[in-house]
Amino acid sequence: MPESIVVPAFAKINWLLHVFGLRADGYHELETIFQSIALYDVVTLSRSDDLALNCDAAGVPGGAANLAWKAAAAMMAAFNLPAVRIDLEKHIPAAGGLGGGSADAAAVIRGMAALYELRDEPLKLAEVALSIGSDVPFFLVGGTAHASGRGEVLTPLPDLPSVPLLLIVPEERVSTAIAFEGLRDARRETAAPAPEILGSGAARALTSENILEHAPELTNDLESIVFAMHPHFADLRQALLESGATWAAMSGSGSTIVGAYSEESLRDAAIERFGTSAIISRTISRAESLQFRS
Ligand code: C5P
Repeated sequence: MPESIVVPAFAKINWLLHVFGLRADGYHELETIFQSIALYDVVTLSRSDDLALNCDAAGVPGGAANLAWKAAAAMMAAFNLPAVRIDLEKHIPAAGGLGGGSADAAAVIRGMAALYELRDEPLKLAEVALSIGSDVPFFLVGGTAHASGRGEVLTPLPDLPSVPLLLIVPEERVSTAIAFEGLRDARRETAAPAPEILGSGAARALTSENILEHAPELTNDLESIVFAMHPHFADLRQALLESGATWAAMSGSGSTIVGAYSEESLRDAAIERFGTSAIISRTISRAESLQFRS
């Protein structure tokens, strides 16, 4: 058995995010198409007598407040496993709507399963993942995937040809809970009808063609709420479109605004406009998102 394992934890964006009603458990019923992207944290797991987490990045919670720690503790309890030391090298901006904390948690789950040679436990791993957060189960699937329920009812979709991306990460951070609450209140006030569910079949059709041809359908219900709190986010989205992006939208509950370009050259020409707040990225395949490093 290996002494340690290195797991790249890839971030995600949401091609679309539709929010439906509030459920009895306090979460919202939603529908999304998740997409793994090339930006990643590096999670190194080593066998250890005590659970430990090393991460020197600013703004990242330490100890039991970190989702990676929670995931390790949950894996130890669920499978009666020994502890691990987690070394976390952060590159994904924290609380930016890119699923950084969730990706780290899923990397710990996959990594511990590999390190301690757990066999064929996909359902139990998915359960542990959901106990950490609504979008953690996606990171066990990776690539392009349709999700419903809280975000855990997943249908893997075929890989897309790689799409060049530019991520603009504003300094402001957005609370996911507040964004969902704001949407609920806004709908109550305006009596706006809930969006209709697309379903995994329609999502498959949408992603099997050139996804950017469907740009007008790729909308995020949380955008209007978050843009009302931070009006300059809407300006960033507009600037991405003006820079040549075919599609631009907020990822998850923000704050990251993503631009997708039909050509790498168009994306590269746009970078200058955004200075240091821009991160160059691209969509990646399922296999790439689930790789380990030796
Ligand atoms: O599951 P997670 O802890 O990531 O969710 C963070 C917050 O986002 C929840 O506490 C809830 O307020 C909101 N949320 C929701 N419905 C979902 C997912 C998240 O209301 N399906």
